This record gives sequence, structure tokens and C-alpha cells, in this order.
Amino acid sequence: MKISIVLGTRPEIVKLSPIIRACDRLNLDYFVLHTGQHYSYNMDRVFFEQLGLSEAKYNLDVGSGTHAEQTGKMLIGIEKVLQEEKPDVVLVEGDTNSVLAGALSATKLGIRVGHVEAGLRSYDRRMPEEINRVLTDHCSDLLFAPTEKAKQILLGEGVAQENIFVTGNTVVDAIYQNLEISKEKSRILETLKLEDEGYFLATLHRQENVDDERRFRNIMKGLAMSQERFRLPVVYPIHPRARKQLETFKIEADGIKMVEPLDYLSFLQLESTAKLILTDSGGVQEEACTLNVPCVTLRDNTERPETLEVQSNILAGTDPEEIAKKTELMLNREKDWMNPFGDGMAGERTVEILREKLG
Ligand code: UD1
Ligand code: UDP
Repeated sequence: MKISIVLGTRPEIVKLSPIIRACDRLNLDYFVLHTGQHYSYNMDRVFFEQLGLSEAKYNLDVGSGTHAEQTGKMLIGIEKVLQEEKPDVVLVEGDTNSVLAGALSATKLGIRVGHVEAGLRSYDRRMPEEINRVLTDHCSDLLFAPTEKAKQILLGEGVAQENIFVTGNTVVDAIYQNLEISKEKSRILETLKLEDEGYFLATLHRQENVDDERRFRNIMKGLAMSQERFRLPVVYPIHPRARKQLETFKIEADGIKMVEPLDYLSFLQLESTAKLILTDSGGVQEEACTLNVPCVTLRDNTERPETLEVQSNILAGTDPEEIAKKTELMLNREKDWMNPFGDGMAGERTVEILREKLG
């Protein structure tokens, strides 16, 4: 069995790393195809270095662009590689344009597609990610659902039961594999002059938030209000999309401590000792839940409803007062939830299923 792992962005590198490790351990025949969607050192290469992954065999260097430009270039580049390499299966993870391009190129060539993190739905078609998720799931042959809930969603959409496998989410594996290392190696608290549980951590980068001036301004106001009301600094490692939009809209940082996007080990360390996390990231909602840190989600919906059910997370939308109120509510909530995202063996499980099904 020959496996092609297609990835392109920061969260895909993190969440596919446990699968790549498992392939290495079992000496499987695989190669990594990087679309180049993310390319800045701190959004891409640093993750390969820290997670001990060897360089991708192919990098298409697609870079940034409109959705059609970016996805179109990826489709053309991925097809060429797949025609040459003839893998038995293409694995993609998540909901980015790289994921859709990988899945679509493969299925049109008659190559089987495995979708890691299948079955997530926000039911919000304003999100490019929602379109990518739905389309990818419906052209996949093996759907690795992180939770029972995700499996039920897929069944509800008519996906055949025998193609769905509940594995847990590899985000947990990555945390278990790296948390101790991050505690030993990262000096980020000292560097940023922060104390254990003495700060809020924020991330914000979703297109529907930061490309919309009103929403972006409101969220920044909400962060500033929380900072003042609870007398704890907000640290915000700012994603390049958000940095660009902040400058375009001339939004003031209002005392919020903005830093460059962080490497994984530093970010994990900052997450694990934060008093609370405010975010619109998918992966960060899951990581907060796994690390037992309360989370306030700066969105109107989430495709991670498990976090709302176990009460590790709450939706705040983008109204400043609502953000501060939800922050207070989460600060007063018991941190006694169970992690719904699995036992840290999702990567191993995924690879075992591939071996069983494809030999
Ligand atoms: C993409 C994904 C999003 C995911 C996020 C993870 C899609 C539709 N979106 O959003 O689901 O949550 O990655 O971080 O696939 N840029 C850089 N350096 C880089 C990459 C991007 O400076 O390495 C800047 C460019 O100005 C670019 C902008 O960020 O135009 C947006 O990048 P893009 O890849 O289009 O989408 P993301 O917002 O990163
Ligand atoms: N992350 C990181 N440094 C940062 C912000 C995030 O290493 O400054 C990691 C985080 O631990 C998680 C992933 O990036 O594993 C989440 O990526 P992002 O929020 O960009 O994408 P999403 O999960 O929303 O698709």
C-alpha cells in the first residue's frame, strides 16, 4: 500500500504529525505532498522542525490567492504528482482549500481518499471551510470521524456506515506527544513576562471575522474589555491574515499584547498555562478542551459541539459585552469535563484501519 499525505497549512501539519509518525514506525510506503498554502517560516517549516517530520517530497509552492486561484493551482499540481506516483490512497485532514484540492484531484483519478476529521459541520455556508468539509466528505472512501457525533452526522447525510470509522482526533495525540517536551524546552512565559494562569490567550483569524471590519473591531473591543475587567493581560499571537486586515482597517490594539505566530511548542505551553483562551480557531477549541483550559469561542456557531456539551467551551459571538460576560461565566465554571476527542491513539488507529482495508 502506497499512501500520499496531502497537506498545506499549520493545523494540517500538527494534526497529521501523529499519522506520519505512525507510518514511520511501521515503515509504510508513504510520501508527503505539500501544497505550499502556508509558506512563511512561522506558519510552516517551524512545525516540520519541531515535530521531527522529514521534508515533504513535493512542495507545489502554491502560496496565497483567491479561493479559485489557490484551489485551481493546487488541483493541477496535485494531479500531476498523483499520476506519476500512483498511490493507493490519498490522506487529507480537516477543511482547508488544500484538503478539498487533495480529495478532488485523487477521486477524479480513481484514487481512494481518506478524510481525517470527517463529519464536522457548522451548518454555516459563509465559511469556506464548511464547503470544503462537505465536499471532501462526499468524495471520500474512508471517513475517519473524530467522535460518535461526527459519525452520526455522516450517516444522516447518507454516507455508508462501512466507510466511517470513529478514531478520536489526532489533535489529542499531538498534545500527548509534545506537551512534556514543550514544558521542558519552551521559555515563552519568561520571554513574554507572563505568569502561570496570569493571562488570557487569544487567537483570531477566521475569514468571516477578520475580513469583516465591524466584526473584527468588535472582537478586539471585547478582548480589551475582558483584559480590563479581569485585570489579566491578553496575549494574541497574530495570524498573517489578521495582521494584514488589522492594518487595512487601522484597528488599534488597545493594550493587547500582540506577538508573531508562535511555534507549536511555545504555543502549547502558552495554552496549557493560560487562565482562559478566547479564539475562533477550530483546533484551539479542541486543544483548550484537552488541556483543561476554559475556552470562549468568538463565533456564532461551532463545528465542535462536543466542547459545548462537556462545557469546556462557550459561544460568545462578536459583541464586546457578550465576550466579557461569557469570559466571566467560563472563569466561574468548574473545570471537570471529560475530553470527548479520544485517548491520543487516533493516529495509530487510522493507520491500522488503512492497513486492514487496503493492505
Ligand atoms: C487557512 C484555511 C483556514 C485555516 C487556516 C489555518 C482555507 C480556506 N482557509 O486560512 O481554514 O483555519 O488556514 O491557519 O483554506 N499568509 C502569510 N503567510 C503564510 C500563509 C498566509 O503571510 O504562510 C497570509 C497571506 O496574506 C494570505 C493570508 O495570510 O493572503 C491568508 O492565507 P490563506 O492560506 O488564504 O488562508 P488562511 O487565512 O491562512
Ligand atoms: N498554533 C501554533 N501557534 C500559534 C497559533 C496556533 O502553533 O501561534 C497551532 C495550534 O496549537 C493548533 C493549530 O496551530 O494546533 C491551529 O491552527 P489554526 O488556528 O491556524 O487553524 P484552525 O485549527 O482554525 O484551522
